[in-house]
Amino acid sequence: RYPVICIDGPSGAGKGTVTWRLAQALGYQLLDSGALYRIVGLKAFEAGLLGADGCQDIDEQAVLALTQGLDIVFVPNEASGRVDIIVNGDAVGEQVRNETVGGYASKIAVFPKVRQALLTLQQKMASRSGLVADGRDMGTVVFPDADVKVFLTASAKARAERRVTQLLNAGQTADFEAILATIKARDERDENRATAPSKPAKDALLLDSSCLDADSVYAQVKKYCQD
Ligand code: CDP
Repeated sequence: RYPVICIDGPSGAGKGTVTWRLAQALGYQLLDSGALYRIVGLKAFEAGLLGADGCQDIDEQAVLALTQGLDIVFVPNEASGRVDIIVNGDAVGEQVRNETVGGYASKIAVFPKVRQALLTLQQKMASRSGLVADGRDMGTVVFPDADVKVFLTASAKARAERRVTQLLNAGQTADFEAILATIKARDERDENRATAPSKPAKDALLLDSSCLDADSVYAQVKKYCQD
């Protein structure tokens, strides 16, 4: 089987950057598992399946049917440093990356049947080439036998500050307190769900990036992969 490197952790810890750089350096495929949940969340929202609040009113079977109808392909995009996402032949817009859709993703991510449908799809990717997988449960559930597992964290405050900087750099406005509250709400749902909660695998390297820049994180993870 091909080598698998798992980079798990909460929103804004810097997984995306380190995953991209590792995949480029090693010539591996990149699995952006969060994008899968985001697409399902967005499609479920568009289909009117998401309730006003929480997950209690959502029809799991309907979200499952929608998930099974999706054909998702990732295409690396050098310019953006992420993967472009093609769903049923159409490129998905940048909207899928925003925080609102992140919230939709975390709502549908609580459903075991939806996770199971996406699990099969994710494991298939590792049968074709080496893989760097970014997510919440890569090391615990999807690739328990992975060669390398990293759990990248940072304080909620540090993650919110990074998000504010990103938004300001993009010429948008940013409210630190509102962003911090959103990050904490998503952490809470992801860490406390019954199925595949976001937590480090027993054999994962824990790395706190609160006081590290992207280059230092990459250097440490790269070194850990080589050891
Ligand atoms: O980029 P960011 O960390 O903000 O989010 P993401 O990785 O795109 O994931 C969006 C949401 O999808 C997360 O908050 C989780 O609820 C869910 N997710 C998951 O349950 N399992 C994964 N392997 C990846 C994402």
